[in-house]
Amino acid sequence: MSAEQMLKVFVTRRIPQEAMKTLQKAAGVCNLSVWDSDEPVPRAELLKGVAGAHGLLCLLSDKIDIEVLDAAGPNLKVISTLSVGFDHIAIDEIKKRGIRVGYTPDVLTDATAELTVALLLATARRLPEGVEEVKNGGWSTWKPLWLCGYGLSSSTVGVIGLGRIGLAIARRLKPFGVKRLLYTGRQPKAQAQEVEGEYVPLDTLVSESDFVVVSCSLTPETQGLCNQTFFGKMKKTAIFINTSRGAVVNQEDLFQALSSGQIAAAGLDVTTPEPLPTDHPLLTLKNCVVLPHIGSATYSTRGIMAELSANNLLTGLRGSEMPSELKL
Ligand code: NDP
Ligand code: DGY
Repeated sequence: MSAEQMLKVFVTRRIPQEAMKTLQKAAGVCNLSVWDSDEPVPRAELLKGVAGAHGLLCLLSDKIDIEVLDAAGPNLKVISTLSVGFDHIAIDEIKKRGIRVGYTPDVLTDATAELTVALLLATARRLPEGVEEVKNGGWSTWKPLWLCGYGLSSSTVGVIGLGRIGLAIARRLKPFGVKRLLYTGRQPKAQAQEVEGEYVPLDTLVSESDFVVVSCSLTPETQGLCNQTFFGKMKKTAIFINTSRGAVVNQEDLFQALSSGQIAAAGLDVTTPEPLPTDHPLLTLKNCVVLPHIGSATYSTRGIMAELSANNLLTGLRGSEMPSELKL
């Protein structure tokens, strides 16, 4: 096959070895170009790299908008994202252009649910504060009310978005002695029975839950959903956890709610922007635990995600069925 006939593929980041090997095996038919760095591809390099590409393997930090699609041009047939979230991709435009999209559902569900539980416990039981007190000499003696937090036993947990990850979170939390499991979404879910989930309106969930866990996708409807009104309805003793996307939360309103004592604490794995600037007001609060978007970050999960995204890309380029194609 001549170089002109080869399919051009652009990969926007250095990805795990397994996946690179899979892509390299296709070297006979693909002209592979990789932004070979752990840091994001600069926008100008993305626009340059994607020009004339038939396939694009991207990350959630790459904004795939009309400008990128125009820069790619009419060759572009497949976009494979190394994520289950696809809010960074201009889906409506992609539909119009007949481009197929591969993503990574299911394979990261367990890792993300596990991290959500870890974040919830760390926030509710004030683990980062405790660790800090041990290091800075603040630990003087055992005191009856020092560093007390909130436990899951006999609590009400509300899950916003009982999808793959939301259900996996609920499954893990129930054995801690959760009394009621509430959830919201666009419609009730048959699988909620497994966790004895009660489908309730958002307002009921927000006002009755001791733990509010956000695990929905970011859409125009969920953008800014957790705002002043939302936090105003939460119990003063309630904990707010978000492992979905930062933009679901109005962070100024969250800061107000946390600093005024309107809610007890918050744990965030996702923020706007990412990274959160180190001088951000949320980082001054002891009752706010912020993690650097590590929900799916186990070695094994990231390897499997990368392999799946490589296979999505290659099968898509062949015009065959992808292992995980987004239904547009
Ligand atoms: P799913 O598509 O299985 O679940 C998404 C859920 O969001 C569905 O239950 C859906 O409800 C719900 N939802 C959509 N719109 C609304 C709404 N308006 N109000 C309430 N709920 C709504 O996806 P996953 O569970 O696999 O992933 C969920 C999200 O988690 C991803 O989109 C991504 O943003 C984030 N994520 C974050 C990670 C991290 O590292 N922190 C790792 C992996 C994912 P319904 O079914 O009723 O429409
Ligand atoms: C996703 O896949 O959407 C996460 O945010 C990262 O794993």
